[in-house]
Amino acid sequence: MASLALPVRPRRNRRSQGIRRLVRQTAVRPADLVLPLFVVEGEGVRDPIAAMPGRHRLSIDTLVSEAAEAFAAGVPAVALFPSIADDRKDPRAGEAMNPDGLVPQAVRALKNACPDLLVITDVAMDPYSSDGHDGLVIDGRIDNDRTLPILADMALCQAEAGADLVAPSDMMDGRVGYVRGSLDRAGHVEVGILAYSAKYASCFYGPFREALDSAPRAGDKKTYQVDPANRRDALREVRLDAAEGADIVMVKPALPYLDVVAAVREAVDVPVAAYQVSGEYAMIEAAAAAGWIDRDQAMVESITAIKRAGADVVLTYFATEMARRCRDGPVREPRDG
Ligand code: PBG
Repeated sequence: MASLALPVRPRRNRRSQGIRRLVRQTAVRPADLVLPLFVVEGEGVRDPIAAMPGRHRLSIDTLVSEAAEAFAAGVPAVALFPSIADDRKDPRAGEAMNPDGLVPQAVRALKNACPDLLVITDVAMDPYSSDGHDGLVIDGRIDNDRTLPILADMALCQAEAGADLVAPSDMMDGRVGYVRGSLDRAGHVEVGILAYSAKYASCFYGPFREALDSAPRAGDKKTYQVDPANRRDALREVRLDAAEGADIVMVKPALPYLDVVAAVREAVDVPVAAYQVSGEYAMIEAAAAAGWIDRDQAMVESITAIKRAGADVVLTYFATEMARRCRDGPVREPRDG
C-alpha cells in the first residue's frame, strides 16, 4: 500500500536507538545524585530496613564503605540520618549537640576516608527528640522560636565536625536565616545550607520513620510541613529560604510533586533539589518484588522524570546504582524492528 502523504511524522525521531539518543532531552548524570544513608552505633552493623529492601542502618565502618562505593560510582554527596537509641533521646534533643555523637563521628570518618565526598547533615530534632517532632514541643504545641537556637546549635556541631552542607528539614519559620547567622558568627562562612524548603506533610516518609524510629509520639507534622494540596505555599517557602541565604532549595517528596519542582525551578535562581523519599523507593521495590514492574526501568524512569521536571539535584536511595547505570552509556535495548 502506498504511504499516506504525511509530511510531519514524529515517529521518525524515535525509529532507532541512535536517533532516540540524539534527540533525548534529559540526561541524568552521576554528579546530579545524592545518596541518603542511615547511621547507627556499633561496629560491622548492616541492619536491614524492612520497608526499604536493600537499604540498611549502617555503623560508621560500613557507612564509610558504602559512601566510598557511591563516590567511586561518581556520586558527589551523601546525606546522613542518625538512628539514635531511645535512652539518648530527650525533649530538647540534647544528643544532637554532642560533639562526640554519632553524626559528628560519622562526618569525621567520612571526610577522613574520602575528603572530596560532600557530606550533608540533617538539621531537625526528630531523630533525637523523645517527642519525635522536628521542633520543640511545649504543652503539646511546636514552639517555633524556641526551636531555632536548638537547630542553630545542632548545625554548629555538624559544621565543627566538617559537614560541607547542613540541611534544615524541620520547616520552622525563619530557620535558614537563623542558622546562617550563627554559622557565620562562628566563622563557618563556607558551610552551605541545603534547605528542605517545600517539605510536604506526606505519608511517603513512612519507611524512613520506621528506619529511624522517629515517628511523632503524639499528633502529626501538619502544623509545620506544607499541605499536599498547596503549590503557592511551596513557592512562598522557597523564596523566603533563598532570601535568607539557602544555597540550594529542595522539594520533597519528588514524584508526586513534579508540578511543584517545575514551578520552583522557575521561581528561584539557586539550584533546586528534589528528594525521592523512602515511600517512593518502597513502592518501586514492592511492586518489583511482586513482579508487577521492572525495577531497573522504574528507577531510571522515575529519576529521569524528576530531572525533566526541573530538579538539578536528586536525593535518592538508588543513587549508587543509578550512577553506575548512567555511566554504562546507552541503555542496551533490543534491536529496533
Ligand atoms: C525529618 C526527615 C524526614 C525525612 C527526612 N528528614 C521525615 C519526616 O519529616 O518525618 C524523610 C525522608 C524519607 O522519607 O526518605 N526531619
